[in-house]
Amino acid sequence: MSDLKTARARHAVLSSELEHHNHLYYTHDAPNIADHDYDQLLQELLAIESSYPELMTADSPSQRVGSAPLDEFNQIKHERPMLSLSNGFNDNDIHEFDRRLHKELGQADERVLAYVAEPKLDGLAVSIFYENRVFKYAATRGDGKVGEDISQNVKTIRSIPLRLPLGAPDRLEVRGEIFMAHAGFAALNEVQAKMDKKPFVNPRNAAAGSLRQLDSKITASRPLDIFVYSLGVISDENFATTHSETLERLGDLGFPVCPLLEKVEGPEGCLAYYAHLSRLRSDLDYEIDGIVYKLDRLDWQRSAGFIAKAPRWALAHKFPAQEKTTTVNGIDVQVGRTGAVTPVARLEPVFVGGVTVSNVTLHNQSEIRRLGVRVGDTVIVRRAGDVIPQIVSVNLDKRPATSVEYTFPTHCPECGSEVVVEGEGVIARCSGGLICRAQVKQAIKHFVSRKAIDIDGMGEKIVDALVEGGLIDNVSDLYSLTFEQVINLDGFADKSAQNLIDSIASRRHVELSRLLYSLGIPQVGESTAEQLANTFGNLDALKSVSVEVLEGLPDIGPIVAQNIVRFFADSNNQAVMNALVERGVNYDEIAVADLPDPESLPLNGKTIVLTGALQSLSRSDAKKRLQALGAKVSGSVSKKTDLVVIGADAGSKAIKAQELEIETIDEDGLIALLG
Ligand code: IVH
Repeated sequence: MSDLKTARARHAVLSSELEHHNHLYYTHDAPNIADHDYDQLLQELLAIESSYPELMTADSPSQRVGSAPLDEFNQIKHERPMLSLSNGFNDNDIHEFDRRLHKELGQADERVLAYVAEPKLDGLAVSIFYENRVFKYAATRGDGKVGEDISQNVKTIRSIPLRLPLGAPDRLEVRGEIFMAHAGFAALNEVQAKMDKKPFVNPRNAAAGSLRQLDSKITASRPLDIFVYSLGVISDENFATTHSETLERLGDLGFPVCPLLEKVEGPEGCLAYYAHLSRLRSDLDYEIDGIVYKLDRLDWQRSAGFIAKAPRWALAHKFPAQEKTTTVNGIDVQVGRTGAVTPVARLEPVFVGGVTVSNVTLHNQSEIRRLGVRVGDTVIVRRAGDVIPQIVSVNLDKRPATSVEYTFPTHCPECGSEVVVEGEGVIARCSGGLICRAQVKQAIKHFVSRKAIDIDGMGEKIVDALVEGGLIDNVSDLYSLTFEQVINLDGFADKSAQNLIDSIASRRHVELSRLLYSLGIPQVGESTAEQLANTFGNLDALKSVSVEVLEGLPDIGPIVAQNIVRFFADSNNQAVMNALVERGVNYDEIAVADLPDPESLPLNGKTIVLTGALQSLSRSDAKKRLQALGAKVSGSVSKKTDLVVIGADAGSKAIKAQELEIETIDEDGLIALLG
């Protein structure tokens, strides 16, 4: 008996400690205990429960690891129906929503209505019921009236409290969205791949699949999360008077609430928030598919009431769909500047992710094989954020009977030279080299582009016309172009022809790093070019460099090293480089001996992340200047980050920095840092 008493006391201490750590870790992302120590506490708790099963209460942290598998899910009738939302798609729909509410509330005057704007999370709706502050059950939405009892699965989600603090209402039903963050989704798919299982198509499906497990131990292993967004049943009528207050109080009770929600004024406020979140969307850690606007005052919500299955006081403003169906009108190949032959699908134009897409890259032969795509196929196209559009899958049911498998060309469509395939069908190259006009055009387009030599006014069409007109064969010919030659091209007048000649002439003197990048050495990007410039100081030194020496440099691997050596050894390339110099292209040599010792640089060893928009300089300039001071500039915030520079409209990275308590500075701080 006294043993039970001691066990009960220890069990209570362990329970409250474990839940405290769960809360710090999963809701605030700020653990203050090592994983190992946490596991020890949990093991001790499990041991006590196995000796004294009566201590295994409904709110014990042991519930987080999953329980015995079920045969089926029980049904649960919702005390109050779980509604859906009406949708809006454009500015007009939002103004209309606001106008209707004004009318229904008898607020036809000029008064501006306050709304709460929140991300519309792309996961699964859940209702969680607490009685006397203890988790009682959780249910899916189902048909809105009856859902399924998924309590044992929901309890494994560690950010969901199993017991509420004192002062919480006796009966409380909280509703929210369960979702999987991108990082967790990627990690889960890696595990699936290792176990030879099919990957999940998107985070939403992964979250749904994880919640629908009869074996909650499987759910426990899945990285699920929740944001709560509303109340269902509540015994305390005075809990809150506005929606924003409701969410604040739910936050106080320990529920995760989306940190991005904002109180806004009128339809203009709603639309400004929509625009803001549209920009942040691709930076967020989780999927959202729109914005939900909710009338803030609860008494007004009650007066506005409901239509059919949705409230009149809320509206889901959907982002343009990121996946759409269309057909493949053709497949052909493009030849790049290094001769890479890339297949491209020509699509029936389709509006997806906010833009019209008519071409998508198919990358290479093995990707075509993986997708099994053919001309005439019906396909799903996806464009999310700034990510390039992709074909996700082929609908075989709609394949025309006459369609045939795509055969990759054996010869370059531009110059007729043989296409050489390297690797497992991953890289195909035209062997035509400089006789291939397609390669010549691409090489010149790269040379004149903004990050390369940066010749103002030299667009792609002009390059095409110059090459097709036989006026230039390689980049050095640009510098001997004459006014007469240019004026004879279609679309040029005196002034525009002279401007082009002038802007070419103004780019004779360039930095060595730019020149190196412009040459288009395979796989030599801006930062490698800069490293080469700083290490070797001039072009001649690079002509005699060995693979071994290059490989000794940080960030240069064997393939890039070989590409560099091969490029400088090629007689055609040598001729072009000599011609550039003869035609007046020059650069300041860098005194290599003067290179600073990295240890002496002020930001040596510091990892810095840039996020948000900068006004006074471009992100890439900021990066270069920080690197020049010895800093490592990284793309994501982690515990290893030393400093985060926060520009305008910064998103999740800024939030993460705050959560991890990493030092942050704004643009002024950055300018000061750069001196
Ligand atoms: S409020 C009566 N808020 O969208 C109000 N729903 O299309 C009901 N959803 O079933 C929902 N994020 O699963 C609300 N911030 C949010 C939401 C949200 C996602 C989902 C929810 C609901 C569906 C309605």
